[in-house]
Amino acid sequence: MKGVVLAGGTGSRLHPLTRVTNKHLLPVYNQPMIFYPVQTLVNAGIQNILVVTGGQNAGEFLRLLSNGKDFGLKHINYTYQEGEGGIADALRLAEHFIEGERVCVILGDNIIENNICEAVERFQRQERGAHIILKEVDDPERFGCPEIRETRIVAIEEKPKQPKSRYAVTGMYFFDGTVFEKIRRLQPSWRGELEITDVNNMYLAEGSLTFSVLDGWWTDAGTFESLRRASNLVAETGANKLTQPARAPRR
Ligand code: DAU
Repeated sequence: MKGVVLAGGTGSRLHPLTRVTNKHLLPVYNQPMIFYPVQTLVNAGIQNILVVTGGQNAGEFLRLLSNGKDFGLKHINYTYQEGEGGIADALRLAEHFIEGERVCVILGDNIIENNICEAVERFQRQERGAHIILKEVDDPERFGCPEIRETRIVAIEEKPKQPKSRYAVTGMYFFDGTVFEKIRRLQPSWRGELEITDVNNMYLAEGSLTFSVLDGWWTDAGTFESLRRASNLVAETGANKLTQPARAPRR
């Protein structure tokens, strides 16, 4: 399975921090933001990675990540998204790299405490379709939010005014090779973007979308509040842990 980190966009919610640099180069505690999603993919056993950059100072990604050696990679691939057409627009640029294989996509501002190894295994057992990772949050209206009936997702809404569950769709997605054909059928949303939520809803309509719930904390880092939260969480507990600490036995 190949991996794609999406680090395009203009990061306008973090102006003026992002006026002269790309959001994913900003620090989250003691590392640049982009290090965390790259490490998430590497920890999941994914070695063949494409970074989609964009906006300001995109060349600095090369200086920072170089050939991927610090992550134990032999090579790292890069491309550039012009403009801010949305997450699915950025993913579209990965078609030539994926070559019909399966892909794990992670948003460049998504940081996790543990790892996604369980979700990788689940998706590998799946014959076709897509797999998404959910996390319970206090503010589901900020995210893609699923409506769940019994144990099934029946719809996903992007930034709903009245969320139908307490879950966020995290920015970590697994897709089969049909994802690019689905992206070609998308229309821009009210915010003028090609939405990844619409892609997930297409898989849902085909009956081939599965989900799991993430263990440990998850956060994005695209607003001042979530950037601070991300730095605090990393400082307090560390991120990208491979083995989970033993849980206290239940009484
Ligand atoms: O963090 C999870 C959430 O990410 C999901 O729950 C939502 O369904 C999904 O739409 C997304 O929501 P945001 O509004 O928070 O996404 P944002 O525009 O902040 O973009 C997140 C990352 O995606 C960003 O750090 C880089 C990448 N991106 C985004 C855009 C708009 C690109 O590479 N290119 C883009 O044009």
